[in-house]
Amino acid sequence: MMIVAIDGPAAAGKGTLAKRLAAALGLPYLDTGVLYRATAKRVLEAGKDPADTQAAVEAARSLGKDDLARTDLRDAVTSKAASQVASIPAVRQALLDFQRHFGNSHGAVLDGRDIGTIIFPHADVKLFVTASVEARATRRHLEFLGRGEDVALADVIADVQARDEADRTRAAAPLMKAADAELIDTTYMDADAAFTHALEMIRRKTTVR
Ligand code: DC
Repeated sequence: MMIVAIDGPAAAGKGTLAKRLAAALGLPYLDTGVLYRATAKRVLEAGKDPADTQAAVEAARSLGKDDLARTDLRDAVTSKAASQVASIPAVRQALLDFQRHFGNSHGAVLDGRDIGTIIFPHADVKLFVTASVEARATRRHLEFLGRGEDVALADVIADVQARDEADRTRAAAPLMKAADAELIDTTYMDADAAFTHALEMIRRKTTVR
């Protein structure tokens, strides 16, 4: 049973990479950002403040399958609120068991911010995926345009920077590279190159062939 932990800042290509690795390795995949996004969405829809600990913890505890399957979790308002609820220790605590249980059931590839540091500190493989802020914001901008959302690149850069800053400097499980994580900088890599590179690293660290 293998755990692959993939962490890194927003829009570094973690999700694309994690999904492909999971398929190649025959492992389930969990996008842990969805847990924080779905929590934020419930808080917003209840008309509450994402900084309200009690409201956010209640939302985190009551998440169901339907919340996680929602497709409207990626807009700018939900993203910002997700970063806010993610800074609340009791919210992180409420989501911890679900993540560990998911991974421990059949092994998994999980992506997030604290998978290699907090959720699975003994993961078989840890990857820290990053890229320059310009490269990350440009990719996110293209995603928005692809969905027909006309936003300015400058606004996306500002959003990505603000979220990174919040994720890196929060006290609870800040975004951080685990000491034993392999660094993958995708600034000059496309999705195929990142996948090939990551698979090579996994082969080097495990018995996967
Ligand atoms: O990966 P993402 O952009 O979907 O994450 C949304 C927010 O949730 C992001 O601001 C950081 C937070 N997050 C977290 O704190 N820990 C995780 N394991 C995953 C996401």
